[in-house]
Amino acid sequence: MTVDATTTSDSGVEVVYSDDEIARRLEDLAQEIKSAGLRNLLVVAILKGSFVFAADLIRALHRAGLSPEVDFLTLSSYKKSKTSSGRVEILRDLDLSVEGRNVLIVDDVLDSGRTLAFAKDLLSARGATAIRTCVLLEKQVPRAVDVEADYAAFECPDEFVVGYGMDVAHRYRELPFVGRITKH
Ligand code: IMP
Ligand code: MG
Repeated sequence: MTVDATTTSDSGVEVVYSDDEIARRLEDLAQEIKSAGLRNLLVVAILKGSFVFAADLIRALHRAGLSPEVDFLTLSSYKKSKTSSGRVEILRDLDLSVEGRNVLIVDDVLDSGRTLAFAKDLLSARGATAIRTCVLLEKQVPRAVDVEADYAAFECPDEFVVGYGMDVAHRYRELPFVGRITKH
């Protein structure tokens, strides 16, 4: 795993994956996803954390020659704390039906696996034909439930990360890179 240790003193967040690294990796990831040959793809972005990743990923998918539809599912398990409550709730549901669709679930971080497993089970129960999962970061920790991502952009250190859409108590989502907090 490459770790860029550039510190951005103004934000108090140290870069783990830079915007350039992320941009390059997404082009490869889009090619990988394209080669799965899923027709009529529906991207389901899990909000809020994945909104920046999903926005960049769908444009990389476009450059790879795909034309996915996109919908959003707002799930909550973390509330305002850094530790999982263990329960996943739907805060805002999809607009589209997933019945008979090939779906790519997009999330920011795979950690305990509860969020991704919940989303997979939900879409499967609603009759999705094929379900693939794609995360920006895969934490190298034991999962609480048995689920892995089909596509992952990067490994994630076993610590809390922010930026590129990810927050602590609604802060840091605007940072263009993935980073770790060095001061408060
Ligand atoms: P899981 O359900 O434990 O796998 O956690 C996944 C969800 O927790 C993700 O959708 C993230 O929103 C959030 N999460 C887990 N780790 C982090 C982190 O390091 N930074 C920000 N959000 C995280
Ligand atoms: Mg999330």
